[in-house]
Amino acid sequence: MTMQARHLSIAYGSNQVLSQVSLTLHPSRTTGLVGRSGCGKSTLAKAMTGIIPAPQETLFHNDQIFFPDLSKTGNIIHYMWQDPLAALSPFLSALDLICEPLKAIHKLPKAERQRQARDLLNMVGLNATCSVKRPHQLSGGQCQRVALARALAVKPRFLVLDEPLSALDLVTQEQITSLLRKVRAEMNMGLLIISHDLQTLAKLADDIAVMDGGRIVEHKETHEFFAAPEHQLSRRFVEISKYSAPAAALN
Ligand SMILES: Nc1ncnc2c1ncn2[C@@H]1O[C@H](COP(=O)(O)OP(=O)(O)O)[C@@H](O)[C@H]1O
Ligand SMILES: [Mg+2]
Repeated sequence: MTMQARHLSIAYGSNQVLSQVSLTLHPSRTTGLVGRSGCGKSTLAKAMTGIIPAPQETLFHNDQIFFPDLSKTGNIIHYMWQDPLAALSPFLSALDLICEPLKAIHKLPKAERQRQARDLLNMVGLNATCSVKRPHQLSGGQCQRVALARALAVKPRFLVLDEPLSALDLVTQEQITSLLRKVRAEMNMGLLIISHDLQTLAKLADDIAVMDGGRIVEHKETHEFFAAPEHQLSRRFVEISKYSAPAAALN
């Protein structure tokens, strides 16, 4: 039960953004993807989830060729956008935003989807007052929780979270980090978490991949990665994370 990119290359016009990238996601495992801004992390995530097209025979689900089609395979692998406010419809309440995938993908009747949506809101720590609010009436952290509850409502086998903490203050980052740990423990989902902050990934990831210039330059178990980073960029990330300096220094 894996999701794989094999030798995936993507260019925007003449800008070769990904070169022969291979990455495997496993159920119940969290892979962290770290790299400087612009190195191709979001492009990889979007190609693996069907947001942008990937060349044929570069994506595999359980070793079978996989064609992501958002309307049909959205519950296999799902992309959670970097900016929750931009990704959530301004016209729907938090509850309705979570009900939407329960209707569209899981075809649940109204009472059941509302029940599940309330459970999910509860799981991400939002109360009934928040459930009737629309995105612009919620804080950044609350929107991120709604976005996460909505992604969980899809019940994908693999969930890709693109910089899920970068727009949040430190306290909210800590709360969402604990929430992601809870999700990881409670749901049998494979996660890919993208970040430019290694400290975040240290708390969440089982293994860490480092991307540089559109290639994966190192990929190891998290503890090994911190104990013996090999690539010079990995060593810099580890060094910076030790001294708690802002990871933005690498951007
Ligand atoms: N839709 C797009 N069209 C053209 N160029 C893009 C597009 N999206 C990203 N890029 C370019 O591709 C490179 C990698 O971007 P991205 O994957 O977003 O990197 P990261 O997520 O690591 O910051 C950057 O040079 C960026 O400007
Ligand atoms: Mg990005």
